[in-house]
Amino acid sequence: MKILSVVGTRPNFMKVAPIIKALDRKRPLFQHTLVHTGQHYDERMSASFFEDLKMPKPDFELGVGSGSHAQQTAAVMTKIEPVLLGIMPDLVIVVGDVNSTLACALTARKLNLTVAHVEAGLRSFDMTMPEEINRLCTDTISDILFTTDVLANENLYREGAAKDKVHFVGNVMIDSLLSQIKVAERLAFHNTLGVQPGSYATLTLHRPSNVDDATKLTEIIDTISAAMPDILVVFPIHPRTRKRVDEFGLTGRFTDSPAKPGIFLVEPLGYLEFLSLNQRARLVLTDSGGLQEETTILGIPCVTLRENTERPITVTDGTNRLAGTTRSGIMSAIKEALSSKTGSARHPEKWDGHAAERIVDVIVEQFLQL
Ligand code: UD1
Repeated sequence: MKILSVVGTRPNFMKVAPIIKALDRKRPLFQHTLVHTGQHYDERMSASFFEDLKMPKPDFELGVGSGSHAQQTAAVMTKIEPVLLGIMPDLVIVVGDVNSTLACALTARKLNLTVAHVEAGLRSFDMTMPEEINRLCTDTISDILFTTDVLANENLYREGAAKDKVHFVGNVMIDSLLSQIKVAERLAFHNTLGVQPGSYATLTLHRPSNVDDATKLTEIIDTISAAMPDILVVFPIHPRTRKRVDEFGLTGRFTDSPAKPGIFLVEPLGYLEFLSLNQRARLVLTDSGGLQEETTILGIPCVTLRENTERPITVTDGTNRLAGTTRSGIMSAIKEALSSKTGSARHPEKWDGHAAERIVDVIVEQFLQL
């Protein structure tokens, strides 16, 4: 059976890595092709993840790079079409909710190829988020929908998905986390910064709605600094955010040394470095989706700097708090999170390190009828 899977951006790599490993364990059954669209291309946003996650080199690199949504989506579609036509895979696997996900699903379906979407059914119900549009469109056209939790199943059923298309398999991102947790522990990356375990927070921020507006970005940065005057906040800065910080003249708002409290900028970190840092953090502040899930499993309090989340199970069954993006919301969420205990998370069902195996079991059952 020929399977082609697609990666494009940083949060895709840790979702596809365990699927490749699970397919590999049944090697004679599958011939796997990996396509990298090149939506993310910096060494620190892409190549380093292949090393950390021990992923094979992509068979095809489309090199699409950055651009407007239309440009990027169109470039992926144009470049993946000949690859799909050349291979004609029995199944195309797409993950997550980025532009590369939608572009590849759409192109494959129009060639009448079978498409599986991993991480289907997540909904923020916020149509101003580009990812929400990508999720809705990808789920609507996919043939197989692999979900991370039962709330996602309910979303899909409500939208009319046939029950036999939906498979609750668990969370592949957590497969990667659990397989690397010991390696990350040994790395003890906090030592590189010279900080004590439990004494610092980490921050990620890259959503256009938070970083593309000067007033909003300034307010978020100033509020975090004011809410934690004695705590170091390590901020591996996404290239999009770095550009905005420079453009808006905000560089003076950061501390110049990890020995002083305040927000300390570092380059984007590798998978293992950041996992290692988060394992020993007092608190994680983020507007990313994946970190809400990872902190839930690590048992580290998470403050999500957004008005909504497509991952509500991390709030009900995990360590996540939705802060919103106003000064008062962020202040009170940080205060609550700092007074909560670490290590007290409940694990959502099937976030157990075996999601990719369940995906492969479904594929075997549906395509190979063994
Ligand atoms: C994309 C995803 C988002 C995901 C995020 C993870 C979409 C719509 N957005 O957002 O869902 O959470 O990835 O990081 O697909 N850039 C670089 N080097 C890189 C990549 C990007 O400098 O390797 C800069 C470019 O200026 C680019 C900007 O970052 O224009 C934004 O990159 P893009 O891929 O468009 O979106 P992200 O913000 O990364």
